[in-house]
Amino acid sequence: KAIAAAAIRGAAGLVARAGEELAGALDTYGPDQRVGFPNTGYYLPVIYGITGRRVGRLGDLEPVLETARGLVPAVPAERVWLPYLGGALDAGMAALFAAETIEALRYLTAPGSYTGKTAPSPGGLWLGAADDAVLRRRGLEFVDGSAPGFAVCVGAAPSDEAAVRLARECQEKNLYVFMCASSGGRSMAEQLAARGVQMGWETRLVPFGADVTATVFALGFAVRVALSFGGVAPGDYARLLSYTTNRVFAFVLALGEVDDEKCAHAAGALNFGFPVVADTDVPEILPSGICTYEHVVANVPYESLVSRACEVRGLKITVDRVPVPVAFGPAFEGETVRREDMHVEFGGQKTPGFELVRTAGPDTVEDGRITLSGPDVDAVEEGGALPLGIVVDIYGRKMEPDFEPVLERRLHHYLNYAQGVWHIGQRDVNWVRISKEAYGRGFRLRHLGVILYAKLKSEFASIVDRVQVRLSTEAGEVTAWRGEAREYYARRDARLAVLSDENVDTFYSCTLCQSFAPTHVCVVLPERVGLCGSVSWLDARAAHEIDPHGCNQPVPKKDVLDAAGGEWASCNEFIRTHSRGTIERVKFYTIMDSPLTSCGCFEALVCIVPECNGFLIVNREHAGMTPAGMTFSTLAGSIGGGVQTPGFMGVGKAYLGSRKFLKADGGLARIVWMPAAFKEQMRPVLEKRAAEDGLGADFVDRIADETVGVEVEEILAFLYEKEHPALSLEPLF
Ligand code: SF4
Ligand code: NI
Ligand code: NI
Repeated sequence: KAIAAAAIRGAAGLVARAGEELAGALDTYGPDQRVGFPNTGYYLPVIYGITGRRVGRLGDLEPVLETARGLVPAVPAERVWLPYLGGALDAGMAALFAAETIEALRYLTAPGSYTGKTAPSPGGLWLGAADDAVLRRRGLEFVDGSAPGFAVCVGAAPSDEAAVRLARECQEKNLYVFMCASSGGRSMAEQLAARGVQMGWETRLVPFGADVTATVFALGFAVRVALSFGGVAPGDYARLLSYTTNRVFAFVLALGEVDDEKCAHAAGALNFGFPVVADTDVPEILPSGICTYEHVVANVPYESLVSRACEVRGLKITVDRVPVPVAFGPAFEGETVRREDMHVEFGGQKTPGFELVRTAGPDTVEDGRITLSGPDVDAVEEGGALPLGIVVDIYGRKMEPDFEPVLERRLHHYLNYAQGVWHIGQRDVNWVRISKEAYGRGFRLRHLGVILYAKLKSEFASIVDRVQVRLSTEAGEVTAWRGEAREYYARRDARLAVLSDENVDTFYSCTLCQSFAPTHVCVVLPERVGLCGSVSWLDARAAHEIDPHGCNQPVPKKDVLDAAGGEWASCNEFIRTHSRGTIERVKFYTIMDSPLTSCGCFEALVCIVPECNGFLIVNREHAGMTPAGMTFSTLAGSIGGGVQTPGFMGVGKAYLGSRKFLKADGGLARIVWMPAAFKEQMRPVLEKRAAEDGLGADFVDRIADETVGVEVEEILAFLYEKEHPALSLEPLF
């Protein structure tokens, strides 16, 4: 039988199509025209990862297609007889090169095809390639295991309803769903849209593109995980493919009829170790009897597609079982409940609301007790509002009042995990909504307590022995409780305000990122948050209590070597050991001499601008050029990976407000440029810091931004005009 014929035919067709489109584009734009996916340092990632070629201009695509042509077996497909896997797999890889070429050309010739956003918007359904900011955030979830893998859904489900069921099943299993192509004139993303399902990176349902070639965005995502987190060198295709096979748990679901082009893409995915499971018949792609497991499984009943695919891929999934009548898990965290979909809301400045986690004695906490005083959500009319007080009392032999804010911040995440529950804010500015759908399924207020009880008990098992949740919707009671809660917050803040680098004797390390930056050690200080922005000193301390052998270890602060620079012998020793001997010394308060290393997940980066005698700071979201002559992506590529680079450093955003921010270099006064949007986002923090540092509240407006320019001369003129303080600080060199 004509084995692999379909894949080879499909690949040949795609390569020919890419060739024609490229010829057309070359005619119109010429070989020097820039091409690529937006806001990325990985060029066209599949081509870059596999061949090492950096495609930046149209002309660069010609040799790529030449390679692709060479990979497609030349014999008429029907007569190919392949005694080994190679031919079909090579054809699959050729198909991916062609697909990536076609998608890159689409960005050039049909710029409105993709929204470039992280969720569908009025601009369109299809998102296109993930940019590097999305990759960092989401890729990390694959590394730390909070997302076990992804399903690439090609085509459409038998019905809209079936599409929703498939999406929900994947979400409940914490899988990402990447959607592309269509079948029978319909795509899965359109099916979900028709049913009002929220899509986007936040909900893990990602509509990549309408064409089958958009499948390459999913594989490009896997390639970038390998390059950025796995430390694979571009062009080292053997390591790359073995990384994706062993570490990236993805599979392809072929929904509906499978044509030659889909077959070719499927063969491409097989190279990465991603099996293909189909609900219809698939032309045989590979010779049977050769593979160690069945890479391609056809005619699987629609209902068991996902479980079958997980099984074939060897993906074991443990699902959070929280006894609530709605779906529950991190995939639902990003879902919002719009006003028109809501049954009831609480707080949000409309009714009194607050939430509080308190440490309590053993006698006052009855484990598992959940009480509600006041009316439940049945009592309000659809679209109504109620007051809500949430008090969580915790008893634990190892619980400390200092851990309260750490646990309290988790409330926001846990409540959002429930499908149809939406939560924002914290403390006495919280805002909660419950959707009509969740209400219809029987979700009631006590389920909020059920969620908090289950999650706090399981995730903080070693510090939490008993949990009790009290809920109230009774206006008088909520207001009275809230008054007490406010006093409680004030006492807590007063206690934490005196927390400083000086008055503790222990810092904490974080080595979570060593799984992909093996020599990187973050040291988290009371006045310096981890560079990813999500680990504070208190978080690290609590995490250490929870798991004494985990990646947060105490770093003793002893034997000061340089008080101004922030260097201690004991810290150096710790870092030397935990960086496997690669880093000898670190000074915490400067970036000019032995700065902390950067792993790659920093929220922002600081970089020297020598001509201005200061630093620029740029956030990950900023896609434009900086006065350093590089974009964030390019700068990030040169400082990540756990190496020490004086003059360059990754930081958490909150660090900008710290009294210790680059203290030894002159502090905030050194900041000469930052993106305008970032400046606005940070304005309250910056103004406070500037006032305390005696720089004047208008200091923030003396920092140049891209509206002033991205050339050093332009910003220098601005700085002189504004009498920026950096100009009169002592020279950096
Ligand atoms: Fe931990 Fe640092 Fe990674 Fe954040 S960036 S998770 S603090 S190692
Ligand atoms: Ni990190
Ligand atoms: Ni990191």
